[in-house]
Amino acid sequence: MDGRAVAAKVRERVAEGVRALRKQGIVPRLSVVLVGDDPASAAYVRSKARASEELGMQGETIRMPGTTAESELIAVIDRLNADPSVHGILVQMPLPKQIDPDVVRRVNPSKDVDGFHPVNVGKLLIGDSGGFVPCTPAGVMVLLREYKVQTSGANCVVIGRSNIVGKPMAALMLQDNENANCTVTVCHRHTADLPSQTRRADILIVAAGRPKIVTGDMVKPGAVVIDVGTNRVNDPKAKSGTRLQGDVDFDAVREVASKLTPVPGGVGPMTIAMLMANTVRAAEMAGR
Ligand code: GUN
Repeated sequence: MDGRAVAAKVRERVAEGVRALRKQGIVPRLSVVLVGDDPASAAYVRSKARASEELGMQGETIRMPGTTAESELIAVIDRLNADPSVHGILVQMPLPKQIDPDVVRRVNPSKDVDGFHPVNVGKLLIGDSGGFVPCTPAGVMVLLREYKVQTSGANCVVIGRSNIVGKPMAALMLQDNENANCTVTVCHRHTADLPSQTRRADILIVAAGRPKIVTGDMVKPGAVVIDVGTNRVNDPKAKSGTRLQGDVDFDAVREVASKLTPVPGGVGPMTIAMLMANTVRAAEMAGR
């Protein structure tokens, strides 16, 4: 499954939304806050800013040192909450250890394009479509729809129970609508017999953060496999000495699965496209 191609389609729609807003004198603006200098986070943040600019939106990056106190981050979030020209706010994870990740709850839910605020989490869980859905799981849903994957009645197994991917992913696949309606199982590090669970999956979504945790023998023939993993592993053959490795053993699983997302080029591009879509939606809802 080609995430780059589907993401390009999503960005096309987002660009139309931006043009319509600009006609009303509204330029959607996304403010991304990066605390510290984790190289992976810095790279993600750069691509978020670039994508915003490419679509005619304003992308602002606020960089704060790794020694930032929680109160200083809260002050920045409060300022962005109060600024009417800012439509979307994203605090890049992970945060340095002196900052409680729950600070993201400080983001006004109507600007919470990450969908991390408990109000948005709650709306997702009760099936209220008025909230923001976290970008990676939202992107997986669009991929499944674009590739016409039959979800209704399917056994969906999610590996990983993070608040960013696993839990919202499970909530989405469980929704009462024809693009979901799955029987959902969520696996994690305490799951007794992981292969016996994954072999039951018609749709297997892997967000464990462990390179090649899913091997060919763990996949039911014909299953649809979505790899959310982005692990940086050493590779002497690569120019940089490292490369991205998914949570799925791609070469082995492609022999068994009917559809499979690559890493890179699968879920990753969808995440950014959905962030752009959420930002345009935030601007549309704000109406200013
Ligand atoms: N770090 C990894 N993924 C994400 C994400 O979707 N949003 C934020 N804010 N940080 C992340």
